[in-house]
Amino acid sequence: MSKPLLAALRSEKPTRTPLWLMRQAGRYLPEYRELRAKAGGFLDLCYNPAYAAEITLQPLRRFDLDAAILFSDILVIPKALGQDLRFETGEGPALPPIRDLAGLEKLDQSRFLESLSPIFETVRRVKTDLPPQATLIGFAGAPWTVACYMVEGGGSKEFAHVKSWAFRDPDSFQVLIDLLVEKTIIYLSAQCDAGAEAVQLFDSWASALPPAEFNRWVIQPTAKIVKALREKHPHIPFIGFPRGAGFGFERYVRETGVNGVGIDQNVPADWARDHLQPLTTVQGNLDPILLLTGGNRMEEEANRLLETLSPGRFIFNLGHGVLQQTPPDHVARLVDLVHGKNG
Ligand code: CP3
Repeated sequence: MSKPLLAALRSEKPTRTPLWLMRQAGRYLPEYRELRAKAGGFLDLCYNPAYAAEITLQPLRRFDLDAAILFSDILVIPKALGQDLRFETGEGPALPPIRDLAGLEKLDQSRFLESLSPIFETVRRVKTDLPPQATLIGFAGAPWTVACYMVEGGGSKEFAHVKSWAFRDPDSFQVLIDLLVEKTIIYLSAQCDAGAEAVQLFDSWASALPPAEFNRWVIQPTAKIVKALREKHPHIPFIGFPRGAGFGFERYVRETGVNGVGIDQNVPADWARDHLQPLTTVQGNLDPILLLTGGNRMEEEANRLLETLSPGRFIFNLGHGVLQQTPPDHVARLVDLVHGKNG
């Protein structure tokens, strides 16, 4: 009998509705904050396999979840390509921005796999301690989203630098995207070799692109990664999460061939049922603010999602990550509800 999450991704009937939450390990858990204070900083956690494995498993010790997602970050790829990366306390990531081919050529890529080796060790450690029902999900950032951080030098509202590079000189921007496609395939493949049982590609800023560019910088690179990974690891299901893709979701699913698609909270569940579920497994999409809110509104919406989507191929999740202020009790309540335990 397959684990519930793998069954859902293989279009078999799972023994129960599989459930996991993006950012299920993180700052809303006191045990995470405690380890983070001990380690020093966020990146010290990511590159320490003992800490990272423990944090990956922390939410599964509290809640009956169907997946563990590797504790790491999407920005370990730019770092492995030689771009400096810092997380200042209370702020997002900061990188020295790369704005053209000359900047790209200055990167020292010679230690790519060596730099990522602690992460593969984390995967091996988690795999040996995984509860039997849980699937170990590996992940990477999608090329477009990782490029956003590399070019902007951190978070952004407008994505002015990265978009204008892509609009102004698509041929040289393609060099950056092709590099990220190649390295992402190597990175995800090594996670599978180390024991990942499914993978998710996070395209958090897919929403920033108009349709033609969405096709070129989101769909096409993802399709290449899916194809290459499937050749090397035919049994590993692939989940794509093009957050905010809106009208682009259906084409994304058709043209990338993902086994599952993560949908954000702006996608109506009945639309996903009618347009996406016939093509693939749908994962989502409770608003993270409803999890933070808890109570009846959270329960009503969770029940509505279950009614609409659980008759088909479905993985329960949020529309984006768990927020820092979320009470862990609300997560416990949601897990009980989805798994059919009342009271
Ligand atoms: O989902 C999980 O629990 C697994 C671990 C995970 C993290 N980041 C841990 C993290 C995953 C899958 C990610 C992916 C990630 N990282 C994305 C894509 C998903 C998304 O949220 O859209 C992006 C865009 C990043 C880049 C990133 N990492 C940013 C912008 C930030 C700062 C914002 C924030 O929430 O602090 C991070 C930091 C980060 N990544 C933290 C964690 C637990 C917080 C670090 C801390 O202060 O302890």
